[in-house]
Amino acid sequence: MAERRPLIAGNWKMNGLIASADVFDAIVHGVAERADYADALICPPATLLFGFGERSRETSVVVGAQDCHPAESGAHTGDLSAEMIAETGAQAVIVGHSERRADHGETDAMVRAKAEAARRAGLVAIICIGETLEERDAGRAVAVATTQLAGSTPDAATPETVVIAYEPVWAIGTGRTATPTDIAEIHGALREALRERFGAEGEAFRILYGGSVKPGNAAEIFAVPNVDGALIGGASLKAEDFLAIYDAAG
Ligand code: PGA
Repeated sequence: MAERRPLIAGNWKMNGLIASADVFDAIVHGVAERADYADALICPPATLLFGFGERSRETSVVVGAQDCHPAESGAHTGDLSAEMIAETGAQAVIVGHSERRADHGETDAMVRAKAEAARRAGLVAIICIGETLEERDAGRAVAVATTQLAGSTPDAATPETVVIAYEPVWAIGTGRTATPTDIAEIHGALREALRERFGAEGEAFRILYGGSVKPGNAAEIFAVPNVDGALIGGASLKAEDFLAIYDAAG
C-alpha cells in the first residue's frame, strides 16, 4: 500500500476572535516540539487568515480557509475567491462541508467548481462528503458517499491538490462517532472509487475522517485502514486536544 502522510486538520467554523491567536500559537509550538509524523492544518474564520498566516511563517503548520467562491472575482457580495484566500498566505480550503451544503444549498456540482477554483489558485482542496442519519438508516451510506465523491471531485484532482474528508453528518458536533467498522466500510469504498477513477494514483489520495474526533477516540480511528488523518471541529479549538489528536497519528 502507498505510504500516505497523515493530515491532522482543524476546522474552527465560526469560532475565534483575534485573541484566539494564543490557541493557534500553542498549536504551532506544540507541533514544532514534536516529531514530524503528520501534516497539521488549521482553518480559522476568514478574518484570522492573514494574522495566522503571518504567525505560521517558517513553521510547519499550514493555514486554510473554510470555503471559497468558484469565480476569480465579480459581483458576489460577501464571498471570497480562492485567489483572495491564497493571497493571505493560506495554502488550503475546505469545500463542501455539510454545514455549507445544508445552510447554503451547495450541490456536488458547486463543490466541484469550488475545488477547481482552489486548484486554479494553488490551494489544496479538502472536499467534504458524508451521509445524513436518514440516508444511513435507509442503508444508503456507501451510495451517498461515493456519489458525492464522484460529483464533487474534479477530473484534474491529484493526491497533491485534493484531500477527501468523510464526515457523516450525524457524527458532526454530536459526540457520536461512526464505529471503526462503519468507517472502514466507507473509506474502503471511497478508496476503491478513487482507484477506479484515477488508476494507481487513487491509492495516494488522503481520506480523512471527521465527526466528533477527540483525543479519546483518535487512535482507534487512525488504526482503521484507509484513514489518513482527521478533520476536527470542536476539539481543534483547544490546543491541548488538537495536539493530543496529532500525537495519535504518530
Ligand atoms: P466536530 O466537527 O469535530 O465538532 O464533530 C467536525 C467537522 O464538522 O469538520
